[in-house]
Amino acid sequence: MNVLRVDPTRPDPKAVTAAVEVLRGGGLVAFPTETVYGLGAHALDADAVARIYQAKGRPAYNPLIVHLASTRDARRLASAWPAAADRLAERFWPGPLTLVVPRLRVVPDLVSAGLPTVALRVPAHPVARALLEAAGFPIAAPSANRSTQVSPTTAEHVRRSLGDRIDLILDGGHCPVGIESTVLSLAGDVPTLLRPGTISLEEIREVIGDVALPADEPSGTASRPSPGMMDRHYAPRAELRLFAPEERNNWFARAREENEGWPVGVIAFEPVPAGLVSVVGMPDDAREYAARLYAALHELDGRGCRVIYAEAVPKGVEWAGVRDRLRRAATAFD
Ligand code: TXA
Ligand code: MG
Repeated sequence: MNVLRVDPTRPDPKAVTAAVEVLRGGGLVAFPTETVYGLGAHALDADAVARIYQAKGRPAYNPLIVHLASTRDARRLASAWPAAADRLAERFWPGPLTLVVPRLRVVPDLVSAGLPTVALRVPAHPVARALLEAAGFPIAAPSANRSTQVSPTTAEHVRRSLGDRIDLILDGGHCPVGIESTVLSLAGDVPTLLRPGTISLEEIREVIGDVALPADEPSGTASRPSPGMMDRHYAPRAELRLFAPEERNNWFARAREENEGWPVGVIAFEPVPAGLVSVVGMPDDAREYAARLYAALHELDGRGCRVIYAEAVPKGVEWAGVRDRLRRAATAFD
């Protein structure tokens, strides 16, 4: 596996060309997007896409997001393009919004896990954009981590999770948004939010009116509208427990006791008792918090924590994406 460092704002065209060559040959390239690192393959090459599933250990029922250079390119893969898609694309693309629309047959079944739809996104990160423009073909890219683990926000996170399972990493530093894109389905009668992100439900409603929330989540391997709804997802190796700020002292007493047996980590807004492995001073701005969350989880995992206590975040709508990721990371152990 190769790592090529690139300037995140003006990536070297030689590195980009090298990455395109790997993709064209059916290989796997991890690259930075504004949300998290993606694990890219030529989206119209079913064999290359199969390698993504293999490298990630991803179940075949979990479809991939296809990345494109422009809205025009996105429309080429859709069998229907509702007016809402145009309005949302105009407002939020390039950016951290994924739209699920009915697909054309050129999209391999494997990309969509057999669903009649495809998830499309035009990313904003200059490295992702340069790669898509130079490639001239769509790039399927889930987050560049082993299935169910925490998504990577640095090239080092990718290397630790996937290492020799992939061909190349374009290292463009850390991802500024920090959690995965908002996923919205436009394939049914009513637009439906499948995965919250930093583009909020309210911002989307301002553009297209009413948006539904998904019905109750399916469990086990039952077919599901969105794999982001898997029970265990975005999870660190450590057991994650959420605590309410008003109960912090009780939890810290428990954490200190456990810490005698194994390293216990804490993610909190305020300082915590000495002796625990901690990431404190988390930002009280939701966007800044999102940008740091995965790095905090990776850091505590890397420091050998067996348990992580994370302070619950505020209830406001702008925290929906972060709340969702924390809840899923914790659910794994409920
Ligand atoms: O920010 C992101 O979205 C990152 C970067 C790399 O773009 N990608 C990402 O991909 O998070 P992944 O594979 O880790 O998550 C895939 C998400 C699922 O949670 C699901 O909501 C959605 O994409 N998805 C993909 N295809 C779908 C489809 N046909 N129908 C419904 N949801 C789909
Ligand atoms: Mg993922």
